[in-house]
Amino acid sequence: MNHFQYKGNELYAEDVAIREIVATVGSPVYVYSHATLERHFKAFDDSFSTMPHTICYSVKANSTQSVLKTFINLGGGVDIVSGGELFRALKAGVDPKKVVYSGVGKKDDEIEYALNTGILMFNVESEQELTRISEIATRIGRKAGIAIRVNPDVDPGTHPYITTGLKNAKFGITIDRAIAEYKRAKDLPGIEIVGIDCHIGSQLTKVNPFVDSIVKLRKVIATLREAGINPKYFDLGGGLGIQYNDEEPPLPADYGKEIVAATKDLGMHLIFEPGRNIVGNAGILAAKCLYTKARDEKNFIMIDAGMNDLARPALYGSFHGVLPVVKDQDGVIVADIVGPICESGDFLAKDREVPMFKQGDLMAFTSAGAYGFAMSSSYNSRPRVAEVMVKGDTFEVIRERETIEDLIKGEKIASFLVA
Ligand code: LLP
Repeated sequence: MNHFQYKGNELYAEDVAIREIVATVGSPVYVYSHATLERHFKAFDDSFSTMPHTICYSVKANSTQSVLKTFINLGGGVDIVSGGELFRALKAGVDPKKVVYSGVGKKDDEIEYALNTGILMFNVESEQELTRISEIATRIGRKAGIAIRVNPDVDPGTHPYITTGLKNAKFGITIDRAIAEYKRAKDLPGIEIVGIDCHIGSQLTKVNPFVDSIVKLRKVIATLREAGINPKYFDLGGGLGIQYNDEEPPLPADYGKEIVAATKDLGMHLIFEPGRNIVGNAGILAAKCLYTKARDEKNFIMIDAGMNDLARPALYGSFHGVLPVVKDQDGVIVADIVGPICESGDFLAKDREVPMFKQGDLMAFTSAGAYGFAMSSSYNSRPRVAEVMVKGDTFEVIRERETIEDLIKGEKIASFLVA
């Protein structure tokens, strides 16, 4: 499994034992495999070698700078959704000409920041946003490259919270409005039309919905061309799923074949915004068993990581595999693995058959590289955990564990409360 393998009884990331990382850095800790990150990026990239394309890694999935830098070193760009993500990516050394900016709520200062940086394009998500971008660009004497994010009304067949391309979703401009908006964009002073964009959802396990939206967007492109509007970039968003449990998502190569077949004759430059597909299975969350308790109806394993560290099970009911870091347990047990947070939704695994973990045992939650640390918080005043990147037989801390002092950074007690 992606450079996370057992050697004897011990779970390794590449050539480093997870036990050794925890002994040095403490628990809980996110651990990423550099070789897996590279392999996944290259597999995606290679799938489109027959066409001009740019892989704009979706920063939201895992925004830690060392992860961004790994892809930037391989020629990648980024898909961002905030000024904060742009800042991170620039700090990590991204080429601004490989930055695409999506998101339904871009603020004035963020738009100005992105314009001054000289990003490739804004993926425009509403009529008013288009007007706003033009106004700001005109005020500061720049032209904004734009694509319209077309909402094609295609069902991606995934969790409702991560379905974005249906017309009742807040995302994009509906397909019936797209042409009119492109025509308006053409005459706006601060705007240069450079692309067309869609992103229909996340964790897709079939290629058809991608192809269905391409078919719909091709009609838009044909009409635009008749009107003398020729977007160069075709941004197909992200969304290709991964295996968490028993899903069987297409391999990037198979996805690539179908996308290339559906777009090649257009002569456009493709952009992809993969997140999960590249980082999801390149990371684990290691945690420690604090206590166990057995009840007639249920067994509980209390660990030192919670929904604040890995929110996905609580938020979407999602599945993450559980592996012992050292296999020395006697038998198996069906249990809930729960965190220290004071909420009943705070579980990382539910009714799961797992090894009979005992106090002090370490376990790894698999497929935690995407939307893991990035969605973590300090709820219950729990400092956010450390992150480590492994390369071969070495590892480095790429984000220090937060301290309790960090928790009150920026806070002050109102003056009227102190006599
Ligand atoms: N592009 C846009 C415009 C997006 O909104 C997203 C994800 C992506 C690209 C990357 O999608 P991916 O390739 O990772 O599927 N927190 C949820 C996932 C939220 C996805 C949001 N948008 C989860 O943990 O499953």
